[in-house]
Amino acid sequence: MDKFVIQGGKPLCGDVHVSGAKNAALPVLASALLAPGTSTFHNIPDLVDIKTIKKLLKNLGVEIEGGETVRINAEKITKSEAPYELVKTMRASVLVLGPLVARLGLARVSLPGGCAIGARPVNLHIKALQDLGAQVELNNGYIEARAKKLKGADIYFDIPTVTGTENIMMAAVLAEGTTVLNNSACEPEIVNLADVLKSMGAKISGAGSDVITIEGVTSLVPAEASIIPDRIEAGTFMIAAGMTSGEINILGCNPSHLEALVNKLRDTGMKITPVPGGLKASGGTKIRSVDVKTLPYPGFATDLQAQIMAYMSVGDGLSVVTETVFENRFMHVSELMRMGADIVIQGGSAIVRGVPALHGAQTMATDLRASASLLLAALVARGTTEISRVYHIDRGYQAIEKKFSALGADIKRIK
Ligand code: UD1
Repeated sequence: MDKFVIQGGKPLCGDVHVSGAKNAALPVLASALLAPGTSTFHNIPDLVDIKTIKKLLKNLGVEIEGGETVRINAEKITKSEAPYELVKTMRASVLVLGPLVARLGLARVSLPGGCAIGARPVNLHIKALQDLGAQVELNNGYIEARAKKLKGADIYFDIPTVTGTENIMMAAVLAEGTTVLNNSACEPEIVNLADVLKSMGAKISGAGSDVITIEGVTSLVPAEASIIPDRIEAGTFMIAAGMTSGEINILGCNPSHLEALVNKLRDTGMKITPVPGGLKASGGTKIRSVDVKTLPYPGFATDLQAQIMAYMSVGDGLSVVTETVFENRFMHVSELMRMGADIVIQGGSAIVRGVPALHGAQTMATDLRASASLLLAALVARGTTEISRVYHIDRGYQAIEKKFSALGADIKRIK
């Protein structure tokens, strides 16, 4: 297993190019199942999670080739099963459920288990699929869904679920009649998926708001489309500029997807200004501590909570970081404390007392975003930090050590 070895204390300066968004690429690649023929998608990031969904799609019998541009020929789908071995490595594998039921009338998808950040059930995906008329059974750890023809329905999500909204949107595009998704998630990745589905011939309105209306059509055609930039990767580099008092041009990002973060970072004393093709993020000499509460989009992203906590751990006062989306997303806290951070967890909040400096330590990545927070902490820590289990970070950040090295960081991957 690879590890990172980082010497902290280097200010980060220069340009970084943001890759395509993992969380948009995954549902968009799954959407190819809906349209017989070859769909082409550009700006696909080079990530372990992308390799996993490609394996999953191949396993269903579709032809798939390419890297940054991926071509998927879904003329024939020969299987309808997403096996446990693939789903257990990536929960987002459940995204093939909606398209398979819509296209084939049946699907057998392993139930994802819990993960490091909480129980993460898929009950809302299942209930909405039943509302569309599917018969769903849970057998031997698998979701087995069948429907001769899905029927449009008025659906209400108890919680705005991102992959749930995507899954059901993909199921409803081929249903008979009109589907309304109420309290749907509003993330930009959902808008990206809806745009792709529309270019396949789907009739969708309201994506990006909490009510999405879908008029079912009888068939779809293949699409050619691009993936939006990764707002979480962009945000991670912005926070890195703040932590290291650096100056980073974040190129290729979409500033309108980053408003909650930009506002928060300005409150900490950072300067964030538009530059051609992106944003310039400049750290100040002093880091003002601020409170942060995660919320569904357009609120502050839970996927940036661990990173902002690393930042606040070297702030000049007290910060309360409250997690409202996932119940157990504080795995990074004990690792940050091993680097000298002063953090107390109280229920769903972490109380972070800024310390003058962090120090290098041996640490272990526990999940994708937690590993990004350790990396940020290591970049400002005095001395050497080792981060083991970096396969977590490889799931969601493309060539992260190369991107940080190009900005002046001293970071090595040890095989
Ligand atoms: C997606 C993102 C993930 C991000 C999360 C929240 C992808 C591939 N992953 O995950 O990076 O952290 O959104 O922004 O896009 N819930 C239920 N029942 C369900 C579904 C969800 O109770 O059937 C709960 C979850 O446990 C969680 C909340 O709803 O507390 C939101 O989760 P959800 O939006 O579904 O997250 P994911 O789509 O899994």
